[in-house]
Amino acid sequence: MNISRWINYAASYLKESGRETARIDAEVLLAHCTGRDRAALYRDGLDDLPPGQEKMFLQLLERRAGGEPVAYITGHREFMGLDFLVNPAVLIPRPETELLVEKALEILRPVPAPVAVDVGTGNGAIAVSLAVFLESAKIYATDISGAALEVARQNAVRHGVGGRVEFLEGDLLGPLPDIPGFRADLLAANLPYVPSSEILLLMKGVRDFEPRLALDGGPDGLDHYRRLIPRARRLLREGGHLLMEVGAGQGAVLRGIMGPGWKVEVFPDLAGRERLVIAKRLGVYGQNSEFRIQNPE
Ligand SMILES: C[S@@+](CC[C@H](N)C(=O)[O-])C[C@H]1O[C@@H](n2cnc3c(N)ncnc32)[C@H](O)[C@@H]1O
Repeated sequence: MNISRWINYAASYLKESGRETARIDAEVLLAHCTGRDRAALYRDGLDDLPPGQEKMFLQLLERRAGGEPVAYITGHREFMGLDFLVNPAVLIPRPETELLVEKALEILRPVPAPVAVDVGTGNGAIAVSLAVFLESAKIYATDISGAALEVARQNAVRHGVGGRVEFLEGDLLGPLPDIPGFRADLLAANLPYVPSSEILLLMKGVRDFEPRLALDGGPDGLDHYRRLIPRARRLLREGGHLLMEVGAGQGAVLRGIMGPGWKVEVFPDLAGRERLVIAKRLGVYGQNSEFRIQNPE
């Protein structure tokens, strides 16, 4: 069978199994088995698959048909144009999280030798991207999962920033160095924010395979942010920024939780859903506290 026939066969099999992204999944898995990228599949053509690759391709198709995410099958996911390793110990980085990184880069670019913290780093997508795109930045990245940090460390080394990203295991900001006067310019947090009841009801598809520790944010999804906010206030310098990824409807609730002393803005993602809260730490409690929601552009 030539390349087109393999892809057509695989895509219709995945479609029958209920996979909405059947064709692209088939291409990515075939490219993975043959050790090429997707474009090369079409450019170089392929008369047939050697028996070893054919067997592997059919096995991977089975896994995908069973609902396993393509990123866990190939072990890779692109984020901010960079190739990241993933495995089932980490959440697969989502494209919507690129909004947080883009805003963080905008804030930090004018700051000389900025210090940033990524709380709940998972596979390190946020921390490593910041280090790659801000050459003078020092990044601290924490996670409660040692297995996730193993993956994050590998990603930092692969992208040549292992010396500027420090990975620390523990709860929220707890493992950060206890240096008197230590202050951060920016704190990035994509902590679990899915309400527990939604996880129980929606344990289907990708979420069946991802670690619950990476998703469950308690009854209203905001348990982790409730604990983080007062600690973030102590860690950030005056004028520093706290960026938190949220789900639909959580931005205004989070503002209420934050109280005065912050200037808060809520940004939507490309689909128009509330996705990012940016809070600037003001100097004096109760003064200049502002709140506005950005309109989708
Ligand atoms: C939604 S995932 C985000 C991963 C990554 N930052 C990203 O954007 O792809 C949340 C991460 O927070 C970690 N986490 C959960 N509870 C935590 C806690 N109390 N302290 C630190 N990290 C925590 C999980 O292990 C998981 O890696």
